[in-house]
Amino acid sequence: MIFGKHINRYYIRFLPLILLGLGALVLVDWMQLLIPGLYELVINGMNTGTVTVDGAVVKSADVKIDETKAVIAIDGTPLVIKKHLYLLLNKPRGYVSSTEGHDGAYVLELVPRELYRDGLFPAGRLDKDTTGMMVITDDGQMAHRILAPKKHVKKKYLVTLDIPPTEEMVNRFKEGISLSEGLTKPAEMEILEGNTAYVTLVEGRYHQIKRMFGSCGATVVGLHRVSMGNLTLPDDLPVGEMRELTEEELKLLEELV
Ligand code: URA
Repeated sequence: MIFGKHINRYYIRFLPLILLGLGALVLVDWMQLLIPGLYELVINGMNTGTVTVDGAVVKSADVKIDETKAVIAIDGTPLVIKKHLYLLLNKPRGYVSSTEGHDGAYVLELVPRELYRDGLFPAGRLDKDTTGMMVITDDGQMAHRILAPKKHVKKKYLVTLDIPPTEEMVNRFKEGISLSEGLTKPAEMEILEGNTAYVTLVEGRYHQIKRMFGSCGATVVGLHRVSMGNLTLPDDLPVGEMRELTEEELKLLEELV
């Protein structure tokens, strides 16, 4: 068929170009594995011609660079390529921190679009109705170290009970409380005004604080994580908001492990 022949000739003439295009896409994807964010940089930057590598304008995706040494800039602003991302969230009520048995919105839905990248996950769990500090990262090794039970990282919570906390509870927490799976490690408790107290745990069992108070005849009606080690939830981070850890906060996080 004449039409068929025409299509065939058309294809053959443009095949090298199509292959070249596909090759370029594969190359950019491959480079993105090495340098997260480069894909966007190349696609956006190449259109405007404002990406420079060591001062030279780059107009092609086919550039070989040593990302540990090269200075990549967009419109003259050096690009800081971060291997990992560490985010601090003031978790609101109603969000789950586990992907299993999802029965609510997932905390990752709170990551702002400009901060989102593949591989992010919450480092640790908080109950759906617990609020406060959560670290979200794509650094699996760091998260593993923070969560390792033998590290005994201190996690401090502000607890609101249905009754005033008592000295007897403080002593029982100090001695450890017998739960169905065994005795808890000693927990610190500081009585505050009204029905509130600070509780600091060095482990993270399922519903631990709720169950510990339950065995003392009290019900937890509010639970808010205020710190992990020396890293404290900042007062100016509103509920439901998330931002990157500052350099200083990141150091505190690293000191935990
Ligand atoms: N203990 C609990 O009971 N729930 C939490 O979310 C954290 C600690």
